Amino acid sequence: MHLVEISDLEVSFPQADGVVQAVRGASFHVDAGESLGIVGESGSGKSVTCMAALRLLRQPPARISASRLNVDGTDMLAADKRKLASLRGRVAAMVFQDPMTAFDPVFTIGYQIGETIRAHREATKAAARSEAEALLARVEIRNPSAVADSYPHQLSGGMLQRAMIAMALSCQPRVLFADEPTTALDVTVQAQILQLIKELQAELGMGLVMITHDLGVIAETVDRVVVMYGGRVMEEAPVDAIFDAPQHPYTVALMGSMPGLAPGRRLVEIPGGSPDPSNPPSGCPFHPRCTQADARCAAEMPPVVRTGPQAQAACWRLT
Ligand SMILES: Nc1ncnc2c1ncn2[C@@H]1O[C@H](COP(=O)(O)OP(=O)(O)OP(=O)(O)O)[C@@H](O)[C@H]1O
Ligand SMILES: [Mg+2]
Repeated sequence: MHLVEISDLEVSFPQADGVVQAVRGASFHVDAGESLGIVGESGSGKSVTCMAALRLLRQPPARISASRLNVDGTDMLAADKRKLASLRGRVAAMVFQDPMTAFDPVFTIGYQIGETIRAHREATKAAARSEAEALLARVEIRNPSAVADSYPHQLSGGMLQRAMIAMALSCQPRVLFADEPTTALDVTVQAQILQLIKELQAELGMGLVMITHDLGVIAETVDRVVVMYGGRVMEEAPVDAIFDAPQHPYTVALMGSMPGLAPGRRLVEIPGGSPDPSNPPSGCPFHPRCTQADARCAAEMPPVVRTGPQAQAACWRLT
């Protein structure tokens, strides 16, 4: 059994004038100790997929369905509020794209990390507080005591992002979902934080799902890559294969024109607009921008075909 198993995940948001189809049948898995990268342009459904997997989206408005949504053996769709609360932080934790959303503005950082620890483990307030400071020091915060005493709005974006990573790691989760965890940080600190996440991953045998636009981060941090477009998984392959031999025309375009893997190098913008999630194109969502599309691509979504060991893609050209 996989640590995280997602099959045929669909997430939509009904609106007054239609339905936003954010995720349209995504499937992938993550094993313990493994790092999975999720890439794809803005709006492709990366964040929504991860938030849905951890049941962090409010329902309603979100509508979630899947043939399988398992995290560490728990059926996340069947889990009730209590079960979800006991899993959060301890089994699965998430580092959010916007660090402000992770913290409650009315409590100090130290209090919030401490309470996360105390939610899952017997610890005095004082013990939890000093553990919080130790965690802050581990994410390279130089004055952990002062930061622990600060309220979220008193910290810079980069500092908050580090504090959020400390909080996410505070209960040693079995799997960490990290959504652009280092974007607000400068390159040196980014490297330190990624190093820390990798160390903890090895130490705890933690599974890692990393959403990023940064090709350097993908190359250095992940074992396998899932490429999303228009709410669908276009391709999935081991990281070397994604760079050396991308199979899907979208992946080829996304990885295109990279002279090297300098840190901070971002994925390429592809000409044309991304699909409207309230009115997605028929067939393959990439067909309107694909240089190799034909009539079949516009008519029918291609099946997922195996393209190598642990690799698959959804493209008519590969069938
Ligand atoms: N609460 C919501 N209500 C309505 N639509 C939403 C909601 N949350 C996300 N969406 C829509 O779902 C789609 C997928 O969004 P998502 O945030 O997952 O994209 P993403 O791949 O993470 O993009 P980015 O790289 O910009 O973070 C987008 O069209 C977005 O506007
Ligand atoms: Mg996102």
